[in-house]
Amino acid sequence: MKIGIIGAMDIEVEELINSMENIKKETISKIDFYQGKLQGKDLVVAKSGVGKVQAALCTQTMILKYAPDTIINTGVAGSLSSDLDIADLVISDGVVQHDFDVSAFGKPVGMISEIDLIKIPCKKELVEKIEYSAKILEDTNVLVGTIASGDQFIASKEKKDYIVDNFNALCTEMEGAAIGHVCYINDVDFCIIRAMSDKADGSAHMDFPSFVEIAVDKSIKLINNFLRN
Ligand code: ADE
Repeated sequence: MKIGIIGAMDIEVEELINSMENIKKETISKIDFYQGKLQGKDLVVAKSGVGKVQAALCTQTMILKYAPDTIINTGVAGSLSSDLDIADLVISDGVVQHDFDVSAFGKPVGMISEIDLIKIPCKKELVEKIEYSAKILEDTNVLVGTIASGDQFIASKEKKDYIVDNFNALCTEMEGAAIGHVCYINDVDFCIIRAMSDKADGSAHMDFPSFVEIAVDKSIKLINNFLRN
């Protein structure tokens, strides 16, 4: 069983990489892939870079080159729900691309043409395992639901409302649904784990870097719990 882990930014993966044993690094298409062991499990970890294209490029390469059984995407996200505060966790039961729109041709907003789906589902058993690993963390609010991705940092009430109204998503980020899309096409199980770093409404720009650190710490603890169990 090999697990692939993808984060968009250095801060989202560097602690995992630093904790791995027997590390082997390879660079493909300017992305560094680190193979090794953590908590006795075979891992391949990569920093994709920000956005859906980088995420898709990283995921497809990871699948073809390292054949992981499962891919987990970890990192931070903007909260779309009043039930989610900074550092709370969201685990995806499915992902949507909020910026995919061919409604001019009569399709519903978000319908992805090639696969005829709006929400790409995660496998239930994987979501349940990750949810268990999250719920044993102390002082952590965890919700399971839809995660919305798009090539935009969401920082206005209008865009936030658009995503909530159209997709009923719990949080928004810039990679998860691209990773889910590539995994779905390749029959690889996937799940997205995101800790809230902001409210996606432009209210906390000044605090973003410190919130990111707190949030990243939460998602790394969750990954370690998941690997241990
Ligand atoms: N990642 C963290 N916060 C985000 C936001 N508000 N929009 C998009 N990606 C994010």
